[in-house]
Amino acid sequence: MQYSERYLHLGEKIDVDSHVICKYRIKTDRMSMEEAAAAIATEQSTGTWTDLVTLKDDIFERYGAKVIGLEGNVATIAFPDEDFSIDIGGVPQILSIIAGNLFGLSDLEGVRLEDVVFPKSILEQYKGPKYGIDDLRKRVKRPDKPLVGTIVKPKIGLSPKATADYILECGRGGLSNSKDDETLVDQVFCPIEDRTVAIAEAIDTLRQEGHHMIHAINVSTSGHRIVELAERVQELGASQIMVDVLTAGFAAVQALAEDPSIKLPVHVHRTMHGAMTRNPDLGIAMLPITKLVRMCGGDALHIGTMGVGKMRGTCQEDVMNRDACIDDSVPYRRVMPVCSGGLHPGMVKKLVDIAGNDSQIQAGGGVAGHPAGIRGGAMAMSQAVDAAYNGVELAEYAREHPELAAALEKWGSV
Ligand code: 3PG
Ligand code: 3PG
Ligand code: MG
Repeated sequence: MQYSERYLHLGEKIDVDSHVICKYRIKTDRMSMEEAAAAIATEQSTGTWTDLVTLKDDIFERYGAKVIGLEGNVATIAFPDEDFSIDIGGVPQILSIIAGNLFGLSDLEGVRLEDVVFPKSILEQYKGPKYGIDDLRKRVKRPDKPLVGTIVKPKIGLSPKATADYILECGRGGLSNSKDDETLVDQVFCPIEDRTVAIAEAIDTLRQEGHHMIHAINVSTSGHRIVELAERVQELGASQIMVDVLTAGFAAVQALAEDPSIKLPVHVHRTMHGAMTRNPDLGIAMLPITKLVRMCGGDALHIGTMGVGKMRGTCQEDVMNRDACIDDSVPYRRVMPVCSGGLHPGMVKKLVDIAGNDSQIQAGGGVAGHPAGIRGGAMAMSQAVDAAYNGVELAEYAREHPELAAALEKWGSV
């Protein structure tokens, strides 16, 4: 296989306003790093495995990607913005360039897309979140503290009534948020319409008691049905919708966020991300996924648990994901960073100290596994967030908060 050195422009200064700039971590012992980087630039822009009689100089010069940097095994490649469609292509076309065929090239043992920076010309084609952090906070009347939520557990099996009762208990225990789990949509034991109505009633009851809470209904479904399903649950009183971005697609997030009839914030789960993010030598890091979710309009996004929860993910990467949710150099509202997966009250102080107050901390097992039951579990999570927000150590706060004390007793603390 031959890769043209013509794609190597190491050290060249690139106009950042007219290029999409990507960083790739490369693993190969079959070729030099220069060749490997050139292979990616070649395949993903104007070339292929052999030279082409049709590749005229003017096409190459205008549309060819350029390898502009190589640090160790990390290559920086700049793609001219004219390689990308205007408006119509959307994220599917962006991904086919920056994260397409390259992963399958047999000469490269592995490639991981670590980061992407988009120029204004592409960013302005997207609207970003319709609501974002500030609006989410208003909906639950929680202006400053981290939002604190749950994922209804067990993730499947509860009836609509049992789900609604669970949420009522969580609200009475002080939680501001709850959500369906990623595998629940519309199973026979818990039809989505009945569930939505029952939960809306529970949330209404809480409101009458003076507590404000929202619950995200999972509307992940086929592309041609998702907007209609979201409209239906909205009609039935849903307070938020949820979508699994990697199984339903970025285009699904964008469709929900941009549809003018949908006036609910979109909570974005990232189930399946481990297949892309977990292997340090192959796949796509969470950072580009986060940036794309923000462009597409996700209002809240699971970003990891800063190294303390049940799922793999380094603290350093999760901090970068958090930063991409709130970075004010892009022209969009801020996305609520959601930390979820294997959390319990004993982890909350460390987590909030890293994640900051503009975050949503969620626990499923860490609520429903509490020895005093769901309300006690919700109280313990809520107390842990209060302690963290006030800069008080959990053990000290637990002296006057028996629910937190029971949680620390069962699960310990980090
Ligand atoms: C879950 O569904 O258990 C978690 O949210 C998964 O955690 P993740 O955010 O690391 O994917
Ligand atoms: C999620 O979807 O975020 C989770 O199901 C987390 O569940 P857990 O807190 O029990 O790990
Ligand atoms: Mg889950």
